[in-house]
Amino acid sequence: MTDEFATDAAGTDAATRASSGARSDLVHREVLLSVTGLDVELPARTGGRVRVLDDVSFDVPRGRVVGIVGESGSGKTMLLRALLGILPDGATPTWRRVLLDGHDITAELPRRRLPAAMVFQDPMTSFDPLVRIGAHLTEVVQRFQRVGRRRAAELAREALVAVRIPDPDRVLTRYPHELSGGMRQRAMIAMALLANPELLLADEPTTALDATIQAQILALLRSLQSERALTVVIVTHDLAVVAAVCDDVLVMKDGRIVESGEVDRVFREPRHPYTRELLAAAPAEPAEPEGPVDHAAGPKEADA
Ligand SMILES: Nc1ncnc2c1ncn2[C@@H]1O[C@H](COP(=O)(O)OP(=O)(O)O)[C@@H](O)[C@H]1O
Ligand SMILES: [Mg+2]
Repeated sequence: MTDEFATDAAGTDAATRASSGARSDLVHREVLLSVTGLDVELPARTGGRVRVLDDVSFDVPRGRVVGIVGESGSGKTMLLRALLGILPDGATPTWRRVLLDGHDITAELPRRRLPAAMVFQDPMTSFDPLVRIGAHLTEVVQRFQRVGRRRAAELAREALVAVRIPDPDRVLTRYPHELSGGMRQRAMIAMALLANPELLLADEPTTALDATIQAQILALLRSLQSERALTVVIVTHDLAVVAAVCDDVLVMKDGRIVESGEVDRVFREPRHPYTRELLAAAPAEPAEPEGPVDHAAGPKEADA
């Protein structure tokens, strides 16, 4: 690995071994997930196979919000799908090495699931249109916990409160299409939380929403990260999203990671020509989820 996360991981290992313990400057991050040499091939429409992820290596530091940015078709969604074990039919993922909390789990993949849950780009296609929000949520609770129906309903309601839905009892009885886009995305985040993930993956979670709602959802993800000690990975094609909520960023192009590092560093001194190109093309004023958006308050959408 050539990026600075990798250096951090190596530094942590070295510091753990060092008896003096004098290397605390290097032990500033614990790595939740470390992936080395991930390839994904898919059947090509024209026959043969196409490699959509090519030797992808990265670390996800625990408790951080990591952005994955890159143009459409660069492999961002495939990367999240590979982590979740939900690649399209016929896909073959291979890894050189995967560490979870420092433990080598390469041999257990893909059978072993990572402690991850996903917030999909379009909640309308992820919810069953004929199933009420409450039933979606309790189904997830009962899949992950041995609890009765009453307790499952309580936990579902609590999850809606956690994502700042102001009228959870009403929303539980709604069908997905009866909610606004922002409310539906909150419900989708609630559903992901009910799987008790350590790693929350979000694939362009705000692309379908207008700017105000977008900022609220991003602020919510940021708040949930700290409240629940989550590690969050947000895929976006929007550098303003990265600037506003992410600690670290991976830049993807053509199925590869071309640059990675702390957001401040990457924005200040991008090393890869493609990163520079992205930054030069970005609007000067990044979106700000802070300021007028009140993290603790409920959303200000009129409907639900
Ligand atoms: N079901 C599929 N079968 C074959 N190729 C696919 C499929 N889905 C996506 N691809 C291809 O995989 C590449 C990466 O896609 P994707 O991860 O969706 O990109 P991104 O999310 O960055 O826009 C693209 O070249 C895309 O055309
Ligand atoms: Mg995508």
